Amino acid sequence: MPKIVIAIDGYSSCGKSTTAKAVAAKMGYGYIDTGAMYRAVTLFFIQERIAFTNQKEVELALERIHITFNYSNQTGKNQTCLNGLNVEDEIRTMHISNLVSEVSAIPEVRWAMVAQQQKMGRRRGVVMDGRDIGTTVFPDAEVKVFMTAETYIRAQRRQQELLAKGELVNMDEIIKNIEKRDLIDTTRSESPLVKAADATLLDTSHMTIEEQVDWVIELADRRLAELHRKKSRKVIQ
Ligand code: DC
Repeated sequence: MPKIVIAIDGYSSCGKSTTAKAVAAKMGYGYIDTGAMYRAVTLFFIQERIAFTNQKEVELALERIHITFNYSNQTGKNQTCLNGLNVEDEIRTMHISNLVSEVSAIPEVRWAMVAQQQKMGRRRGVVMDGRDIGTTVFPDAEVKVFMTAETYIRAQRRQQELLAKGELVNMDEIIKNIEKRDLIDTTRSESPLVKAADATLLDTSHMTIEEQVDWVIELADRRLAELHRKKSRKVIQ
């Protein structure tokens, strides 16, 4: 069976990462959370007091950033590591959420991250979630999903996520953050968040995670069967 790339793009808090992770586990594929990479860069810039607007400073800082993903046997979860240190919790705070869109709009940051992501998926057999996977990172991905959901529902999900980590944030602040990030993500000059022409739209407003996972797996299965048919036809000819 050939291995494919499954690109899951879309707005924040639509269930992209949870779905992508479960799809990867069911298919025996790797999972790459590209949002975590931009969050880790943001954390590094804050820690090192990098001026986001200083191109030279940004370029030099990027050379000192090494991001990896580790599976923790202790928590049974994937951990994002920045220069070898687990930063999984630190990168999920509101403070980082408030700055990450600004950092991820910097062209030099995008070029560096896109190059790393292409390297991580070069052997295929990966599920990657983000904003520009189907358009820029893997425009040739065999499966492309574009996720959306109503803003209020996305904010409720985000609030629950933060609460589970002990951070109580009111809905107004979360909605403001979501709307600001949507605006920056969709209007930036370098690979803005946009649905690829050949991506399938998935509105998750009234879906459970299990339904979302089944939906993506079905789409991937159909695509794999199609590729298999094409290959068999070639052999017969
Ligand atoms: O998926 P997330 O919310 O953790 O992503 C954090 C931010 O990173 C989001 O505001 C947009 C940015 N991002 C991006 O620009 N490109 C990606 N491929 C993934 C995330």
